[in-house]
Amino acid sequence: MTTLVTVGTQWGDEGKGKVVHFLSQNADLIVRYQGGNNAGHTIIFEDKPFVLHLIPSGILFPKKKCLITNGVVIDPENLYKEAMLLKSKNLDVKGRLFISESAHVILPYHRYLDILREEGRIRIGTTRRGIGPAYADKVTRLGIRVVDYIEEEVFMDLLEKNLREKAPLLKKIIPIAKLRANILKDYRKYKNFIKPFVTNTSLVLDKALKENKNILFESAQGTLLDLDFGTYPFVTSSNPIAGGVCAGAGLGPTKINSVLGVVKAYTTRVGEGPFTAELRDKTGDYLREKGQEYGATTGRPRRCGWFDAVLLRHSIRLNGIDSLVLTKLDCLEGMEKLKICTAYKYKGKLLKDFPASRLVQQKCTPVYEELPGFTGSVKGAKKFSDLPVNAQRYVKRMEELMGAKINLISLGRKREEIIVLEKSKIWY
Ligand code: IMP
Repeated sequence: MTTLVTVGTQWGDEGKGKVVHFLSQNADLIVRYQGGNNAGHTIIFEDKPFVLHLIPSGILFPKKKCLITNGVVIDPENLYKEAMLLKSKNLDVKGRLFISESAHVILPYHRYLDILREEGRIRIGTTRRGIGPAYADKVTRLGIRVVDYIEEEVFMDLLEKNLREKAPLLKKIIPIAKLRANILKDYRKYKNFIKPFVTNTSLVLDKALKENKNILFESAQGTLLDLDFGTYPFVTSSNPIAGGVCAGAGLGPTKINSVLGVVKAYTTRVGEGPFTAELRDKTGDYLREKGQEYGATTGRPRRCGWFDAVLLRHSIRLNGIDSLVLTKLDCLEGMEKLKICTAYKYKGKLLKDFPASRLVQQKCTPVYEELPGFTGSVKGAKKFSDLPVNAQRYVKRMEELMGAKINLISLGRKREEIIVLEKSKIWY
């Protein structure tokens, strides 16, 4: 039995979609444990990019089982549409998709509340998918779980309670009667669709563990978007870190064997928020101008910058990462110089650890070291020594500064464009 957690080590968009797709080949079960349809995993399927927001991409392999566990927030409309999209490509989710009865649902009013907040004074640049408001309801005990959603009588009662409580805010954008009618219009269609998939996913996991199955947990977002350890308040409302698996899937910590971090060769983020090493360098902007980088979910251009080793040390420690996949090295081709942020400076002091203070995050400056860039294509490289020498040097220096080994290097969007440097506990 192997249980492997894959996590994003930066602000999401590290290219986890492809890595998870690659690893799913050898997994029996693929599990989403937090977040919702704010995630966006781009996978190349039949030579076309294809984005899944909620259903694990493992569903593209016909025999794999996919779980959406209790820590996830589920928008029934989105789930239905994604399943229909898969069906149109002859991929049936029946018998392979398991949805936790304890996961909470996202309803249209959550999306309205997300938009209201974003258009008001406290903007953080969310995906506007209702993620934060749905988790807020979960915490304030007003949430509607999947098991409540599929029991019509319970649902109707909870819907009224929620509409009553939220009416003062919601009335600003939509009359409550109209909102109720919108929610009820397709309610039965979604409810009847979801019902056969609903189960106790913790039991499904337990059975799989007892049968020595390989289980892959895929996080959405990244460590710096973690509610507790990210760049608060510019974070998501759940815990993408590996520790999130236990509460988010109903599994004890002793059952996790290994944690794989996905790290991009540079840093990007979408949404708002201060930050240091990425935003301050003109050459970083060059990547954006090349038009390579758009968030899979938001479609917004990502803000690009240099690789930040301080962040990576923070991520490796918090997640207990024991192997790493490096992605998007190809995006750095042709840069004359490559910089790496090794520390931050604040009021003349050198900071080697990631600061929690918003003020320090905003005001500190990155300390860079510079390496020569590389020319020539890294694509098509089959082993480490096929990479240009300066690309090899860059990777080695990243490893030294992170204090961790890179096991795999991904060099393109296709599943097979990957170099295996060192086999570890992870299965290929
Ligand atoms: P929310 O998750 O929609 O509440 O958005 C909170 C923050 O997380 C915003 O800065 C979003 O841009 C960011 N975010 C959410 N999901 C992702 C993701 O999958 N990749 C990158 N950023 C994300």
